[in-house]
Order: sequence, then C-alpha cells, then structure tokens
Amino acid sequence: MKKVRKAVFPVAGMGTRFLPATKASPKEMLPIVDKPLIQFAVEEAVAAGITDMVFVTGRSKRSIEDHFDKAYELESELEARGKSELLDFVRNMIPKNINCIYIRQAEALGLGHAVLCAKPVIGDEPFAVLLADDLLDGEPAVMKQMTDTYDYYRCSVLGVQDVPRADTRSYGIVDARRVADRLEQVNAIVEKPKPEDAPSTLAVVGRYILTPRIFHHLETVKPGAGGEIQLTDGIASLLSEEQVLAYRYIGTRYDCGSKLGYLQATVVFGQRHPEVGPEFDAYLKSLEK
Ligand code: G1P
Repeated sequence: MKKVRKAVFPVAGMGTRFLPATKASPKEMLPIVDKPLIQFAVEEAVAAGITDMVFVTGRSKRSIEDHFDKAYELESELEARGKSELLDFVRNMIPKNINCIYIRQAEALGLGHAVLCAKPVIGDEPFAVLLADDLLDGEPAVMKQMTDTYDYYRCSVLGVQDVPRADTRSYGIVDARRVADRLEQVNAIVEKPKPEDAPSTLAVVGRYILTPRIFHHLETVKPGAGGEIQLTDGIASLLSEEQVLAYRYIGTRYDCGSKLGYLQATVVFGQRHPEVGPEFDAYLKSLEK
C-alpha cells in the first residue's frame, strides 16, 4: 500500500493581487509575521509525513529555492555575532530527511498544467498538492487529516469548506453526497461557477490528495475557465473512472491570496506569536478604545 510521500507546490503564479509587493518576489514568500507562506505549507506537509517537496516554479522564484537551501554567508555571520538561537533557527528550518525538488513551469498555462509538470518526479504514486496562498491552521495539520483519510479510503481526497453562494465564482465547487462525518462522495466538480449555476456551496480549498491517474486526465483535458488547463477539469474527468472524496477539514482557512485574508492571518498569528504576541494584543485592544 503506497503512502503519500510527495507533495507538489505550484508556485509559478504571478501574484498580481499583491502588486507592487510581488513585482520582483513571489507571493509565496510574503511573510505572516516572520514566516513566509510557503514555509507554512511545507511544514503542514512535513506534519503529514511527506518527505519530498516538489516546487513547480516560474520566473522570479529564485528566492523560494534560496529559502530552503543552506545559507552559508548568513550562517557564518550569525555564528560570528554569537547569535546562536537565530543560527539554530535557520539551520533547522526543515528536518534533515526532507528533499526539495524544483521543476520549472516554462509557461503559465494553469494549475492543472503546473501539476502535470510534476509528473516525472511523482511517478506512479499518490501525492498531495498544496496551494501556499491558502493558509490552513489546524491541529492536527489539515494535510495530516487528509493523508489519514487517504490511508483509509485509498482514493483522491479534496479539502473542502462551505462558502457564501456569492463566492462560488472564486472556487472549484463540488456536487457531493454525504457518506460519513466530514466526508462526501464527489459526483461532479466545476471550476468557478456563477452563483446561479453552482451545484452547491461546497468549495475546494487549496489542498488535494490525488492518485497518479490524474496525470492521464490532465494530459487530455482542454483549456477551461480563463483559457487555462484547470486541475478541477482534470478531477472532473478522473471521476469517470475513480472515486473522489471531499473532506471537510477541521481548522481555519486564511485566504492569503487576498489582501483581507492576509491581514486577518497576520493579526491572528501576530497575537499568538511568542515574542510579540502579548504586546501586539495589548496594542490591538488599545485601538478599540
Ligand atoms: C484554485 C483552484 C480552485 C480552488 C482554489 C482554492 O483557484 O483553481 O478550484 O478552489 O484554488 O484556493 P485560484 O485561487 O488559484 O484562482
């Protein structure tokens, strides 16, 4: 029985909603207090027992590679200045057994295409997909909840949550039937339907576990919403031959692809931060007066 050992992080998007901050640096490197979004996503994958992190990158994404690489100059500088705590921090950012693999997506042809770019590295095993701009705060980690679900049902699993009907045009929306607590069997899935056309209000957040059969479908789907090869369309096609489950995760999602969600995450993680949390919290309270 194959375990989920590999995760794909599509990080080639332009991040236009955060311009000018994302002109020269990737949106996945935007920090929530002091930790970039991509690191939250990688830590979530690590918590699920995943060891191979596959980043599908594009232009101006060098900083992501540098972030997970050894930083010799920084380490010797910190050592020379006796900053041992910070040194430990940058040295042990991710566990030693983790492999980081980078694949370049030459053209931005859509999320489905980005996932397809990872095929040579994934091979014939189930894998996770994490979209770093969806920050999922859960205990246990949301991806761990999903790999547990996969281990039991051995089929593709999509992380889902209910959204207001007016928001269906921002998400992949599933038509599903309840099979167990938090678990639905997917009958159909459509990318970004208008509220009046949406089959439900159950939306896919940026967490997926997919069987390798998805590649076959991504190779054959035609460009969909926005003229892009959509992962949602690949999953819709996969449904013709395999069961797909939708899992209502336990936790809170911050849509850090939007300015409002990003600010909300910053406030919540700021209040919780071991170093500045109490003072920041007092500051917020002082603003209420
Ligand atoms: C992508 C997917 C969409 C999914 C969403 C979750 O859209 O295409 O199906 O619901 O992520 O965040 P994007 O937000 O990249 O437009």
